[in-house]
Amino acid sequence: MTSETITITDNRTGQSYDLPITYDTIRALDLRQIKVDPEEFGMMTYDPGYGNTAACKSRITYIDGDKGILRYRGYPIEQLAEHSTFLETAYLIIYGELPDKEALDTWTHQVNHHTYVHENIVDLMESFRYDAHPMGMLISSLAFMSTMHPEARNVDDPKVRDKQILRILGKLPTIAAIGYRHRIGRPINYPNSDLSYTANFLYMLDYMGQSMYEVHPTLARALDVLLILHADHEQNCSTSVMRAIGSAHADPYSAMAGATAALFGPRHGGANEAVLRMLNEIGDESNVAAYVEKVKQGDQRLMGFGHRVYKNYDPRARIIKDIAHQVFEVTGSNPLIDIAVALEEVATSDEYFVERKLYPNVDFYSGIIYQAMSFPPDMFTVLFAMGRAPGWLAQWNELVEDPEQRIARPRQIYLGPGERDYVPMDQR
Ligand code: CMC
Repeated sequence: MTSETITITDNRTGQSYDLPITYDTIRALDLRQIKVDPEEFGMMTYDPGYGNTAACKSRITYIDGDKGILRYRGYPIEQLAEHSTFLETAYLIIYGELPDKEALDTWTHQVNHHTYVHENIVDLMESFRYDAHPMGMLISSLAFMSTMHPEARNVDDPKVRDKQILRILGKLPTIAAIGYRHRIGRPINYPNSDLSYTANFLYMLDYMGQSMYEVHPTLARALDVLLILHADHEQNCSTSVMRAIGSAHADPYSAMAGATAALFGPRHGGANEAVLRMLNEIGDESNVAAYVEKVKQGDQRLMGFGHRVYKNYDPRARIIKDIAHQVFEVTGSNPLIDIAVALEEVATSDEYFVERKLYPNVDFYSGIIYQAMSFPPDMFTVLFAMGRAPGWLAQWNELVEDPEQRIARPRQIYLGPGERDYVPMDQR
C-alpha cells in the first residue's frame, strides 16, 4: 500500500481532483466524481478488450510480458516444468503452496478416485455425431455435470467447492477420452487409478486390450509438462469468462462450460489447431517467405504468433520447443517442425513482426507435438482445457472468497439513437 496520489485537472471546468494510487492503480470509480454538471453520470474509462484494466487482485500467477517471465504462486515456470508434476502444480495453483509428501499423496489419491463418470455422461457422449467437435462435446458435458451435482450451486461453502474441484480435475480426462473413443468408433476404457494422471489419460485413449500394454513414460511426461505450461495464465479471455460467470454465483460446471467455450476460439486456445492447419497449408519450407508476405499484407494472421501480454518470447514456447525434440525421439520427427522453424526464423527477423513484438506463443509448437503423439488436431484445444482447468478453478475460488468482488457488469458508451416514437408498420 502507498499513500501516493495523482492529480487530474479537468480542462473543461479547470477543477482538479486528487485520486489515491494503490499498487500503481487508480480506482475507476474514483473518476466518477469528475463531471461538468452535477446531474451528469461522471467520467468513465473506455477499455475495449480490457487492455489496461485490472479487474481483480490476485495471488496466483505473475507475468512480466516484456521480460518473458511466468510464475505460478512465485515459482518460475521453468522450474515447475523441470521438477513438478501436473497434479502437484494444480495443487500449488489452487491452494497456494507446494504440498508436502502426505498432502500430495492424499491429493493424488483423491483426484485419481474422482475419475469415474456417471454412465449418463457416457450416454451423452454417445449421442454426438462421429464428427462432432470434441470441444463442443466437452462444453456440453461440463454443463451436463452441473445438472448432476446440484449442491455445487452452494459456492459459498469451501468444502463444497473443494469437492467440485476434485470432480472436475478427476473427470475431465475421462470425458475427453470417452469423446475421443466415441468419435473413432472404439469402446471406451474406464480409468485406471494405478496410473499417473497423464498416463491414465493416454491409456484411456489408446488401450485396445493388449496384454503387454504400457504407456510410454516419455510421452506421459511430455504431456504432463505441456499441461503444467498451460495450467494458468492470469486474466486471459477464458479465465475472465470463468470469473464473470462465477461472479453471478453460478456453479463451477456452468462457469467452466463458459470458460471452455471462450477457449475454443481461434484467437485463444483454438490457435494450436489453427497453427497445424496453417503449417499444412504452407506445405513446404520453400513457401514460407510467400506466406509471410501475405500475412504482412493483412490477408491473414500468423497463427501461434503474438500475445496480448508477451511482447518478448513466450517462456512457455521455449520449453515446448525442447519437449518437441524429446517426443520426436520416441515418435519419429514431424515434418511440420522444419516448416515451423523456418517460419519462426523468417518472422522473427522481419521488421513487420519485430516492430509489433510478435513472437511464437505457447501454441506455435504444442500442436506439432500433439500431432506427433497422434492426437487429431481437433483434440488439441481439449488438451489445453485439461491443462487450464486448475487455473480456472483457482481463479474461481479466489473470486468467490474475495470480499471486493461484485457481479461483473461493465459500463458502455451509448452511441445509439436518442428517444424516438414507435413507428407503426404501415408508415415505415
Ligand atoms: N499475425 C500477424 N499480425 C499480427 C498477429 C499475428 N499473429 N498478431 C497481431 N498482429 C498485428 C495486428 O494486425 C496489429 O497490427 P497493426 O498494428 O498494424 O494493426 C498488431 O499486430 C497488434 O495486434 P492486436 O490484434 O492489437 O494484438 P492483441 O494483443 O489484441 O492480440 C492475439 C493478441 C493473440 C489475439 C493476436 O496476436 C493473434 O491473433 N495471434 C494469433 C492467434 C494466436 O496465436 N493465439 C494464441 C494466443 S497464446 C494462447 C492463449 O493464451 O490463448
